[in-house]
Amino acid sequence: MRAWWLAVKVLIAALLLAMAGGVVVIYTGAYPVGADEEHWPLTHQLLETARERSVMRAARKVDVRLPRLDEDALLSAVAGFEDMCAGCHAPPGLSPTALARGLNPPAPYLAIAARERTAAELYWVTRHGIRMTGMPAWGVTHSDDELWPLIALILRFPELGEGEYEGLLATARAAGVGHDHDHGHDDHDQEIDHAQDHRPRHEHEDKPAPDQEHDHENEDGHRHDKHAH
Ligand code: HEC
Repeated sequence: MRAWWLAVKVLIAALLLAMAGGVVVIYTGAYPVGADEEHWPLTHQLLETARERSVMRAARKVDVRLPRLDEDALLSAVAGFEDMCAGCHAPPGLSPTALARGLNPPAPYLAIAARERTAAELYWVTRHGIRMTGMPAWGVTHSDDELWPLIALILRFPELGEGEYEGLLATARAAGVGHDHDHGHDDHDQEIDHAQDHRPRHEHEDKPAPDQEHDHENEDGHRHDKHAH
């Protein structure tokens, strides 16, 4: 009985010590928060597990309403993806933007996420975002009718052939698709920038400022758009 009680006491003392250690690390500012450094393995593990479990649990309540994408809806979804998502998530076959390369945690390549996640999970994250990462809650500014076609598009990403995304985007832009549906009455310039954004990636390496500025403008553009609706 006594040995048992001693073991409990030692365990409690060890736990308190660990907690005190954690508090000291945090309050002294010893924990690094720069996006160009990695989390400590333990923190990484905790955060990742919390996210995985939380998304899985929340996604169970999602009422899946995947639309069938006809030609127009597909073009509109591609234009929407380019305007809202491609700055962080590289579209199929394209390299990430300068902004995306500085993100920590990184924005996953959604052609892979499409294979690993359910439609409900993809939708839940798109609508609610992930706190303390770059992933915004698109449901704050967008209706389900605008978000579900994006999920349907992402689920098609694994099937897209070489250059197909760019082809669809070019068709959408040429037809002016996306302007009156999802986004941007005034952001023609930004859309053109976006299109260029994926190409001269490496030349931009030392000059992050223009890309960042552009992305800010783009976000303002979206907000503008929403108020107008
Ligand atoms: C400003 C950058 C940014 C933008 C813009 C953005 N995302 Fe994300 N997204 C992220 C980051 C970062 C993560 C990873 C979060 C994490 O690791 O917890 C993420 C994660 C996701 C995930 C989860 C993927 C997985 O494997 O679990 C989905 C789905 C997603 N984003 C969809 C979208 C869609 C759709 C859009 C456009 C409507 C979008 N994102 C726009 C940064 C962004």
